[in-house]
Amino acid sequence: MTESTVNASSADELRKHLFYETSHSPALTDLVGYEKAKDIVDFCFIANPYYPTAGMLEDLQRSLPNLIKSYPSSNPLMSQKHLATVLNVDPERLIIGNGATELITLMKLTLIDRIAVPVPTFGEYIEKMKDLRDAELYALDPKDRYQLRLNDYLAWVHKRKLACLLVINPGNPTGQFIPLDEMVEFLHRARDLELVIVDESFIDFAGDPIPSLLPLADQFTNLLIVRSMSKHCGVPGLRLGYGYSANLYLLNRLRRFLPTWNLNTLAQYFLSLLPEADAAYHEGRKRLMGDVVQLYGDLRKIPSLEVYPTGANFLLFKVTNGMTANELQKRLLWEHDMYVRDCSNKLGMDAFHIRVASQGREKDARLVEALRTLLQ
Ligand SMILES: Cc1ncc(COP(=O)(O)O)c(C=O)c1O
Repeated sequence: MTESTVNASSADELRKHLFYETSHSPALTDLVGYEKAKDIVDFCFIANPYYPTAGMLEDLQRSLPNLIKSYPSSNPLMSQKHLATVLNVDPERLIIGNGATELITLMKLTLIDRIAVPVPTFGEYIEKMKDLRDAELYALDPKDRYQLRLNDYLAWVHKRKLACLLVINPGNPTGQFIPLDEMVEFLHRARDLELVIVDESFIDFAGDPIPSLLPLADQFTNLLIVRSMSKHCGVPGLRLGYGYSANLYLLNRLRRFLPTWNLNTLAQYFLSLLPEADAAYHEGRKRLMGDVVQLYGDLRKIPSLEVYPTGANFLLFKVTNGMTANELQKRLLWEHDMYVRDCSNKLGMDAFHIRVASQGREKDARLVEALRTLLQ
């Protein structure tokens, strides 16, 4: 047995274990170790490769010794103001979490009894419910490429007399983008609901200007917008995400349960750097959107792949030659040093879908080449 087959089979065991424990993909380092991970291009990693800027990273590095020796501010308003400056919104209506995941967990503890969730989805929306049955799963149709049809969804929600629903736009893992005018029309028709959560974690890659509901949030008192900063700002390790709502009562219910010092000093400092780096941010965001268009076009030329249109910085495709996503994932990992997201463990998804996040043109081109070799 060669060293690589030993590694492959023990990684396989680990993978099985990890996938039974969670619906997230295992971290690459858990799968192959820190040494090997350095050589692998991680296409599971959904984050903006062009941000933070080199200057911001240097600034963070220089400030690290002081930052880790200080307590974070216990007053969240300062950070809210920094963020509000770049989002052009009212700082009082923001709530910043230790990643969007902290806010999602909190919402479920404080605001939600039962919630409609289209599946497949981002697993945290189902997994942290008080009781798993509190998530009412709306199964998206594989024959319709798992597309969410808002009219049908709302009719289903009304029929089941649910007071609360989730829409992720652009969707994860599908990348499906619902244009702003359709979202607005939907929100008007969903006014009778108590809570409409719209997760816009990937909306910054859906167009220019960004087709977000943020500037229109004042019109809908039952709307809570959720956004992870891990993806669009490229800082998953800092743990930053936020919620925005015109409904202060709703925000205050969440705030009561938010731990003091939930943001660390490095994350707070990063927020303070945002206003000055805003032009660079938008430049990087648009550059990445261009990369995704290129990747989409290149992947579509590969036979045996059905590539779904996307509004996000990642793409979902279906393998149509009978090879499973799991097999293709393994071959890319062990033969081409590339790690992609096999979506088979996502609730409601079949065994043939893979999600890849753009890592910039050069690495994306290598992925396309590897896929061509494996699927020809
Ligand atoms: C749709 C969606 N929302 C929220 C999150 C949570 O992000 P974080 O906790 O890193 O901010 C993710 C992470 O993948 C996601 O896909």
